[in-house]
Amino acid sequence: MPTLETLRESLGGLDGRRILLRADFNVPLDAAGRIADDFRVTAALPTIRWLTEGGASVVACSHLGRPDGRPEPRYSLAPVRARLAQVAPGVELLENLRFDPGETANDDRLVQQLIEGCDGYVNDAFGASHRAHASIVGPPRYRPGAAGRLLAREAEVLLGLRAKPKQPFVAVLGGAKVSDKLGVIGALLDIADEVVIGGGMCFTFLAASGHEVGESLLQVDQIEACARLLDSGAAIRLPSDITALAPGERVVQAGVNLRPDWRGLDIGPGSAAEFSDLIAEAGTVLWNGPMGLFEDPRFAAGTKVVAQALADSRAFTVVGGGDSAAAVRQFGLDREIDHVSTGGGASLELIERGDLPGLRALRESAPPQQSAPLQQEEHHG
Ligand code: 3PG
Repeated sequence: MPTLETLRESLGGLDGRRILLRADFNVPLDAAGRIADDFRVTAALPTIRWLTEGGASVVACSHLGRPDGRPEPRYSLAPVRARLAQVAPGVELLENLRFDPGETANDDRLVQQLIEGCDGYVNDAFGASHRAHASIVGPPRYRPGAAGRLLAREAEVLLGLRAKPKQPFVAVLGGAKVSDKLGVIGALLDIADEVVIGGGMCFTFLAASGHEVGESLLQVDQIEACARLLDSGAAIRLPSDITALAPGERVVQAGVNLRPDWRGLDIGPGSAAEFSDLIAEAGTVLWNGPMGLFEDPRFAAGTKVVAQALADSRAFTVVGGGDSAAAVRQFGLDREIDHVSTGGGASLELIERGDLPGLRALRESAPPQQSAPLQQEEHHG
């Protein structure tokens, strides 16, 4: 994949060059529209500094949220622009790409608009590189393209998990929906020694193994798929106890058979300890998805214990973006983790498939001075 250094060479230097930078500034905003966590802004700074210190001017672009192809003030990138002015003065930031329907439709009209006046293209938007959208796959067809520092590091770490993880490799998966994770669970079962399941999705697995899950989150249409995985003898570890909410707002500790009016909202302390032991003995740990409803302090313990176990482990530890990345930052443990990914869906898709549309587009990027399209990228939607 072309690097920043190969881009500089192909442009004959950066001084005076104008570079289009696709970043993932899809930051969480609070109720007042302020940036709640600027992790994704600071994560792009090494690339921005490298470009500007080389004398290039940077035009950044990003999406924010999921506006429906038209301007919506609540999804304006204005708060990010203000933050960027503080940490990377002089960098221009275009308005939310998804205000234009051409972004998600991968419309060449928008691609032409974006690359106009730019000499090269850098993709540092790891979190959006699983989307075959105009700003991700379009520009490198027409301009020399390169991976930014963040994208290159994310790809190296996550592809490294597929290629040569230090054994034993323990994958800890949580989050609400099992349907979102079945693909990655299948891929991980091929490369990990143990796949540990917690979070809301553990209840569909528990139901598939014949347990009573009460009012817990359950995806009935996925029970069969989970049962097939369990029956195949796959190395899947489920919780052995659950922390649940009972009528009258009572928090109860239970085994894995819940009463009909109980709702499981966290793994129990016994499971948290078992999972921690596995993490402590691992050579590599991947964690994606909280173990329970950690936003509620009554159900944060499982997620906190797992986060702490990763922080304490001597293993190479990777937290796949999204809610688990937010959790390690909330607990102040992010510095103790070897790699906290900026991408939620992107990190899972890269682990599952070994490639992303954004990475593919860079590999097929236009050589220097190429001004006509090399080929048309197929539309992935
Ligand atoms: C993310 O937050 O996961 C990325 O920015 C991608 O956003 P999307 O799921 O709306 O495409």
